[in-house]
Amino acid sequence: MLRLSINRRLNVMMETLEKIEAQLQKSMPRFEWELRKPLIEKILKLKKEKNVVVLAHNYQVPEIFYGIADVTGDSLALARESVHRQHADAILFCGVHFMAETAKLFNPEKPVLIADMQAGCSLAESITGADVRALKAKYPGVPVVTYVNSSAEVKAESDICCTSGNALAVVQSLKSDKVIFLPDGFLASYVARQTEVEIISWEGTCVVHEEFTTDQVEAYRAQYPGLKVLAHPECHPDVQSAADLVGSTAQMSNFVAEQPAGAQVALITECSMSDNLALAHPHVELVRPCSMCPHMKKITLEKIITCLETFQPQIEIPQEVAYRAKRAVERMLEITAPKKVVSLPLAATV
Ligand code: 13P
Ligand code: SF4
Repeated sequence: MLRLSINRRLNVMMETLEKIEAQLQKSMPRFEWELRKPLIEKILKLKKEKNVVVLAHNYQVPEIFYGIADVTGDSLALARESVHRQHADAILFCGVHFMAETAKLFNPEKPVLIADMQAGCSLAESITGADVRALKAKYPGVPVVTYVNSSAEVKAESDICCTSGNALAVVQSLKSDKVIFLPDGFLASYVARQTEVEIISWEGTCVVHEEFTTDQVEAYRAQYPGLKVLAHPECHPDVQSAADLVGSTAQMSNFVAEQPAGAQVALITECSMSDNLALAHPHVELVRPCSMCPHMKKITLEKIITCLETFQPQIEIPQEVAYRAKRAVERMLEITAPKKVVSLPLAATV
C-alpha cells in the first residue's frame, strides 16, 4: 500500500516535471534545462517531504516562477496568500526580504524561509523606524501610509500599508486632507496626481525603475507603431506620463493576458516579468527594456536547495514590532478587495 502510494507520487512528480520541461524549454536552450532539471526535481521532492509551500514574486526567474512555485503574484496577492497557509509546515518565500517578512507577520509560529537574507530592496533600505518617528513628530496627527516595500520596523511605525496596486484607494480611505506617504517618492507623486489629498513624501527610489527614461519610451514607440507601454508606478513621473497604463505587476499581467494576437506591449519594469509573461502569452509580442533587480536575482535554485535542506535562513521579527507591523498590513487588506492570484504555475499541480 505504502509502495503504491510512493509510486503514485513519483508518477505525479514525473508528469509535473514533463509539464515544467515543456514550458521552460521555450525560455532556455536544451543544455541549460538539462543543468536545471535535477535542481528543480530535488526542490520538488524536498518541498513535498517537508510540506513547504513556495510563494514567488512576479520578478523571479522562470525556473523558479514556473518550476517550483505554488503561488505567484504581485506583493498584494502574495501578502493575501500568506494569510492562508495553515496546511503548510513552512513557507519558502522567493522574493525579497520585506515580502518574506510580511509572510512571517501572518505566520508567526511557522518557519518562513528566504534563500538569501541579503535579498533586500533599495526602497526598504531608504528609511528607518527612527525616520518615521521624526516625521510623525514634525506632522502630529497626520496619518502615515507606508508602501509594503519597507521593513517590519518601518511598518510598525505606520498607520496603514499600501502596495503599488492599491496606493490611491488606501490614501483615499483615510478621509484625511493630508497624509505622510513613505518611502517611494515616485509612487507618492503617482498618488498625488490623482487625489486632492496633500501628500508629504520621502525620497526613496527603486534602483531598478529609476533607470528608465522617456527617451527609451519614445524610441520604442517610433520603432513599434501601435505599441502599448505599461510602466510600474516606481518609475519617474515623466515615464509614467509617457505610458498607456501605470500599474502593479499584477495589473500589467492582466493587461497582457487580455491583448489580441499580435499585440505589441512594452513592459517598463524588471526583466523577469517579461520572460514570465512571454511564456504564458506567446500570442503577444513583448518589447523588453531590461533593468534587473539585483536583490530578486540573489534567489537561485542552488540556494533554495540549501535553504530547504537546512531550514535556514529564517525570518525573525521581534514580537512587539511584529504586532504593530501586522496591524498596518491588516488594515490595508481590510480596505482593499481581494484580488485573484495572477497565475498558477505548473509546480502547483504536484
Ligand atoms: P508589485 O507589488 O507591483 O508586484 O511590485 C513590487 C516591487 O517590488 C516592484 O519593484
Ligand atoms: Fe525593491 Fe526595486 Fe527590487 Fe522591487 S525592483 S524589490 S522596489 S529594488
